[in-house]
Amino acid sequence: MNDREKLDYANWIPVKLLMVSGTVGGILAVLFGLSFLIAGGAVLIVLRVLLAAAAVLFLGLFGYMAHARRLLSYEGGGVQGRILDNVLAYLHWNGEGLLLDIGCGSGAMAVKAAKKYPNARVTGMDYWGAAWDYARSQCEANARLEGVSDRTAFQKGDASKLEFPDAYFDAAVSNFVFHEVRSQPDKLALIREALRVVKPGGAFSFGDVFFSRTHYPDLEALIRELSGDVAELHFVDTRQNDFVPGFLKTPLVAGQMGLIYGLK
Ligand SMILES: C[S@@+](CC[C@H](N)C(=O)[O-])C[C@H]1O[C@@H](n2cnc3c(N)ncnc32)[C@H](O)[C@@H]1O
Repeated sequence: MNDREKLDYANWIPVKLLMVSGTVGGILAVLFGLSFLIAGGAVLIVLRVLLAAAAVLFLGLFGYMAHARRLLSYEGGGVQGRILDNVLAYLHWNGEGLLLDIGCGSGAMAVKAAKKYPNARVTGMDYWGAAWDYARSQCEANARLEGVSDRTAFQKGDASKLEFPDAYFDAAVSNFVFHEVRSQPDKLALIREALRVVKPGGAFSFGDVFFSRTHYPDLEALIRELSGDVAELHFVDTRQNDFVPGFLKTPLVAGQMGLIYGLK
């Protein structure tokens, strides 16, 4: 292990989002200022109003996201970790056997699970695309630093076509992933794929933005359909919690959270 290696669970709000919104907002504000150096009529006034509005929008987004990032972070408010703890709290599993974390990101929940269940072997899978600050090597380093590398494994894959046989895992978890999976817009099919690899009677707990109409246009129908596939299924409105500050309960961050859990 590299002596300088340190834990890095990253953040759901990527640095590049802050850089883009801050830079664009800054440029718009400068252009607004420069517009006073030239003389003009009604068109210039309209242009100034548009520049000012756009600058306020981008700088406002930057300010909101920068504070949200601090609240979510493991070194700051710790909200990200508490959301993952909550997903695991609804996993009604004895910890014996194999657990899959679908879209494991930085390995945060896979590592938490390995620490919570000392007899479990945990597999984290992810697409690790360019959109996120996550990587397989980062998951492996985090697992090593947390002392669970002998019971964790990480592999690249696509959540819409999991490379595991039917009923391979004793339990499965996932958080804030299904809505991100571009390769499968049908979220019912995607969740069925997640459940395919769980043993009959196995436990599952899946958090996502279930209250987003864009990704889940008919949540009731989804729950009804899934309930017919498994032995037990429950839905929790995780927007109603006190571990996420109100500031984060907007559609931009954690304002559309829900959780599906049960036994297959
Ligand atoms: C918001 S992050 C959540 C990461 C992690 N579950 C957590 O809660 O910290 C979304 C994750 O979904 C992953 N993802 C997106 N599309 C995927 C796909 N088709 N298959 C597997 N993972 C995917 C991304 O790479 C990213 O790690």
